[in-house]
Amino acid sequence: MTMNSLSNLAVFGTGAMAGALAPHFARPGRALTVSGRTRTEVERLASELGATAMGWRDAADAADVILLAVHWAGVDDVLIAAGADDGLLEGKVIVDCGNPVEVEKFTLVHPEESLSVKIQRRTGARVVKAFNLAHIDVWRAMPDYGAGGLMVPICGDDPAAKSAVAGLVDEVGATAIDVGELRQALHLEAAAAVVIRHLFGGADTSATFNLVSARSASSSSISRASRGDICTPKPV
Ligand SMILES: NC(=O)c1ccc[n+]([C@@H]2O[C@H](COP(=O)([O-])OP(=O)(O)OC[C@H]3O[C@@H](n4cnc5c(N)ncnc54)[C@H](OP(=O)(O)O)[C@@H]3O)[C@@H](O)[C@H]2O)c1
Repeated sequence: MTMNSLSNLAVFGTGAMAGALAPHFARPGRALTVSGRTRTEVERLASELGATAMGWRDAADAADVILLAVHWAGVDDVLIAAGADDGLLEGKVIVDCGNPVEVEKFTLVHPEESLSVKIQRRTGARVVKAFNLAHIDVWRAMPDYGAGGLMVPICGDDPAAKSAVAGLVDEVGATAIDVGELRQALHLEAAAAVVIRHLFGGADTSATFNLVSARSASSSSISRASRGDICTPKPV
């Protein structure tokens, strides 16, 4: 899969995350579609983005990459509506930004298995976890995180899918950092529970984990110049 595979991108969901991320992905030469369960919201977001409003199934069929930005409790309904049972999502790249976090206790709803792994097993898609660790205000405006910028951990089992998603991270204005296979998504979801608790405690909405090293903070070697590449941390 090459960066050209980003030329057909579907956004599933019309809520806060879809509204924060999708504007970065509306680019000339890209077919961008929006799907959701509330027709007026789908039409509103599609019109804002200059995208095409489409039903789940048609959008899934047309897309190479799907940004799944629906509430975790609705994910299964959406996957079924998009043709998971008929194999329509098999091989597609699904970007999962979801956090199945119980916000009264700040714990994972299903601590034994990540949402991402469930989605991959349910669909046969190539799922990549990304964008789950920061608040929508970050994705909307990309605050200044200093010389190294914001490192966005991504994980997945398919290198080409991760490379495509690293391209999307780049378009948002951050740098993807490969933290391993999709099984690591459980840890990213758990880390999100910590961030969410911190934000609920009154922290500035730009507060997030950032995988920086002294080298990246003092040089621009893994900043914008190389965005699109995935930074793989060296073993410690
Ligand atoms: N908000 C953040 O700062 C943030 C940051 C990182 C990650 N996330 C994660 O991103 C995901 C989306 O969050 P969000 O903030 O965008 O939530 P949101 O604003 O509440 O939007 C949720 C979206 O999911 C849709 N939805 C819910 N249940 C559905 C169902 N059964 N079938 C179809 N669609 C359904 C909603 O449709 P309707 O409009 O029709 O209700 C809406 O489009 C969540 O997993 C969240 O944990 C959020």
